[in-house]
Amino acid sequence: MPPDKKTTLLIRNVGQLVTMEGPVPRLGDQMKDIGLVEDGAVAVAGEEILAVGKSDEVEGHVDLAEGCRVVDAHKSVITPGLIDPHTHPVFSRTRENEFEMRILGKSYTEIAASGGGIRASVRDLRETSREQLVKKTTERLNKMLSFGITTIEAKSGYGLSTESEIKSLEIIRDLNEAHVIDMVPTFLGAHEIPDEYRDKRREYIDLLINEMIPRVASEKLAEFCDIFCEEGVFNIEESRSIMSAAGKHGLKSKFHADELASTGGAELAAEMDAVSADHLVFISDDGIRAMAKAETAAVLLPGTCFSLGSGRYAPARKMIDSGVIVALSTDCNPGSSFTESLPLMVTLAALHYKMTAAESLSAVTVNAACAIDRGRQIGLLAAGLPADMVIWDMGDYRELPYHYGVNLVRAVIKRGKVVIE
Ligand code: NIG
Ligand code: FE
Repeated sequence: MPPDKKTTLLIRNVGQLVTMEGPVPRLGDQMKDIGLVEDGAVAVAGEEILAVGKSDEVEGHVDLAEGCRVVDAHKSVITPGLIDPHTHPVFSRTRENEFEMRILGKSYTEIAASGGGIRASVRDLRETSREQLVKKTTERLNKMLSFGITTIEAKSGYGLSTESEIKSLEIIRDLNEAHVIDMVPTFLGAHEIPDEYRDKRREYIDLLINEMIPRVASEKLAEFCDIFCEEGVFNIEESRSIMSAAGKHGLKSKFHADELASTGGAELAAEMDAVSADHLVFISDDGIRAMAKAETAAVLLPGTCFSLGSGRYAPARKMIDSGVIVALSTDCNPGSSFTESLPLMVTLAALHYKMTAAESLSAVTVNAACAIDRGRQIGLLAAGLPADMVIWDMGDYRELPYHYGVNLVRAVIKRGKVVIE
């Protein structure tokens, strides 16, 4: 322990300390190893972790600063702060009308084709003031934090004009400063063809390539570029040209791929060295092999299949067994998956992907970090890393998928400060 650093926060009497220490990313069987320490403690100095391990080892060596806060975990579970690697949090109006239409028999694609779906959210965002969008997005971030999420990836994609996409990304930038949740920004101008370009899609693609991407990159408003590569949205060739333009401007890539049909999106993501490809309900065997080889992370979104009631889920076990980096996310958005609860995704992953609690914990921590290019920087509890942690109201980590529909978070610590208790 560095002698000059004093402990400002000590969490003791931890029943199960899920450190996630071990290989990053976790592949295949490695996902079962969550770096579990029984009877543990964590010492924090300022924003960083100072020491993690068995109680006697940590507590015997710490030098408590004046006013150090000591938290008794009462034998409960502690994990790293959860990471949600795929969210669409910047929108105003919700779309419960469409949810009800789906319950009554309409499909997501039918609703989108008749002018609802993403385009309805676009019309709404363009009319909404910045203040209102900030207010609504903040409410969502607060809910995410209450479910133990300390870092998210956040996409634009409901503006689809240069001005409105920039407005969305500026809101993400400003909230990243103002809110305790860390946000990794993604430009998703290629989410859909907006109403005014329906008959001239090539012009919208040119606008993306020649105006929006260069502007977003030069103003440093995004780290990633994403695209909805799907039948009826952007095809493979269009996706290749848009994403290579993004790459030339220094944006890393992510793909919405093979969600509604198998189009070769996963293969393209791997070919383009994307950091992640997400959804993947209809991924082909070639796509699985290509993603494993390219080390492109698979971000699986079970809440989307659940909320769309589609009945078909991504072949998660096959991807895990093939050595793909598997992460989980909420896909929080007003259309296909309106939830801020990553723990609920752990329950759905158990039931529909047959993933154990340990595998899902790997998927919402270390592997989720890899899916946003933050591997080994966040998602695990180790000396020198940011002190982002969750204290859970449970004595066994396997309760996480099992005890569903309630919030099991007792406290959230972000950069060494208790922000929820
Ligand atoms: O990830 N698939 C594309 N985009 C979102 C849905 C957006 C919406 O319906 O508003 C998704 O599921
Ligand atoms: Fe999405």
